[in-house]
Amino acid sequence: MDVERHDQVLARTSHLPHLLAFSLVDTLARQDQRLDIFRYAAGGFRDFTRIAGSDPVMWRDIFIANREAVLASLDDFEVGLQRLRNAVAIGDSDAMLATFDRASHARHYFESLLNKTSYQAEYHMQPQGQVTYRVRPGGSAQGQLRVPGDKSISHRSIMLGALANGVTEVKGFLEGEDSLATLQAFREMGVAIEGPHQGNVTIHGVGMHGLKAPSGPLYVGNSGTAMRLFAGLLAGQAFDSELTGDGSLTKRPMNRVADPLRKMGATIDTAEGGRPPLKISGGAALKGINYLMPMASAQVKSCLLLAGLYAEGETRVREPAPTRDHTERMLNGFGYPVAREGDTCWLEGGGQLTAGPIDVPSDISSATFFLVAAAITPGSDITLEHVGINPTRIGVINILKQMGANLELGNQAEVGGEPVADIRIRYAPLKGIDIPVDQVPLAIDEFPALFIAAANAEGTTRLRGAEELRVKESDRIQAMADGLAVLSVEHTVVEDGIDIIGNGDAGTASYAGGRINSLGDHRIAMAFAIAALRASEEIVIDDCANVATSFPNFIELATRIGMTLSVEGEHE
Ligand code: S3P
Repeated sequence: MDVERHDQVLARTSHLPHLLAFSLVDTLARQDQRLDIFRYAAGGFRDFTRIAGSDPVMWRDIFIANREAVLASLDDFEVGLQRLRNAVAIGDSDAMLATFDRASHARHYFESLLNKTSYQAEYHMQPQGQVTYRVRPGGSAQGQLRVPGDKSISHRSIMLGALANGVTEVKGFLEGEDSLATLQAFREMGVAIEGPHQGNVTIHGVGMHGLKAPSGPLYVGNSGTAMRLFAGLLAGQAFDSELTGDGSLTKRPMNRVADPLRKMGATIDTAEGGRPPLKISGGAALKGINYLMPMASAQVKSCLLLAGLYAEGETRVREPAPTRDHTERMLNGFGYPVAREGDTCWLEGGGQLTAGPIDVPSDISSATFFLVAAAITPGSDITLEHVGINPTRIGVINILKQMGANLELGNQAEVGGEPVADIRIRYAPLKGIDIPVDQVPLAIDEFPALFIAAANAEGTTRLRGAEELRVKESDRIQAMADGLAVLSVEHTVVEDGIDIIGNGDAGTASYAGGRINSLGDHRIAMAFAIAALRASEEIVIDDCANVATSFPNFIELATRIGMTLSVEGEHE
């Protein structure tokens, strides 16, 4: 850091707080009732003023030496203080809450950086570090469950809510590590967001051009979706930005979005091989393009549509196979027309988003672990409530049904433009199938669990056309194959898929137990946890902390259906 930058940063993070602490204690100490004030002062006073006990001479010297930067930071502070004073004076509860909420979350985020823990660990006390699941073989699969909110829709609810005019109330928001990182990133761009409180989030939209430059890189954790969607949205902003993520995300390909965004006129730098971090230059004049995606990716499609909001003219995206359409549905829900004809969708840049309520359905990708739990366990009966059954997400239902699963949909309804249903599933013997290639993008996140279904089915299940699985949170074909090998499940890996030979005999365990490395991939970890229902021995799964990215209460629900799991690792 150069000297000037050092002085500016220190003025804000150290010198200003010292000045305020000295000033507050001095102001109170001069008042007549000072004895009473100090006698009754408690933790708040102590925490805020501890640094007023520091060395006066040293601090005088610092304020003399760093005069300009200290004055600048004091001026900024006075503006903020005046704003808050007005809010208190006129009883503006929204303004007070927005400020306190933003500050409170920024403080938690800061704490997590200091402690090098995840945001959620700081905030929700989730297990952190090297988390290992130990799952007893057998158990039952019974009960009525509601899994957390959809991850894809949760990310998008924050993004669109932030850019909308007006206040967006979100219900059912997924309080997982990934979507919380997205929420925090928008706070860092100046958006006031209240919550989450039990899945409720209130976003005070700033309009299409109201985001502010963040003071540092935006950290999106484990989430490829967040990084790719943010890339599109940030390409349209007036300010420069940088996107970073965790170790797994840093290995994932970003040229799939950087290349077409460059065609639109964006300037984006990646690390070697098109990997994160992404550095996006602000102020680009984007132009709409007509883009045929080389892979069926909802993330790429959504990225381009979000950039298209800021582009001149029409942005058209053609998909080689249908992919999830939450972005299109939600944009339409926010009053921004997205048209579709066949395999192409498009929008015209330059419009506005209008805030509205969002009811996030339960995530079918999380529900899948319990669908498979019931599908493989004799005597099972599980109902999953209020699950999103958007036609672009129900590959898992179609595939399980083809394998012979006994699965019924009830209470079908539509919430906020997305279809939902209760899904009841009871045990029925499964048989191996050739998975239809057109179902692959519609079940893309469900394959780790479906591989476990295949290991319990009679005969061979054959998957092809699934090379995208190799660039998810882990190489999911290889990670699952390695785990299946530990359990002694016969299989053959090919570049774009796998053959799995199952043991369809309900009377015996389907495979052995053993120790599995989830490679920090949440869905690999949960798939092997569920597998234990039909194993002959205990299954131990390492590196499970990332389950919190998508399914923070997985252990609680797995226990509720009748499994026996224990979690080893650091707890906050
Ligand atoms: C997602 C799209 C999918 C999926 C991911 C979420 C989204 O990725 O795997 O978990 O929210 O758009 P691809 O679009 O890259 O297949």
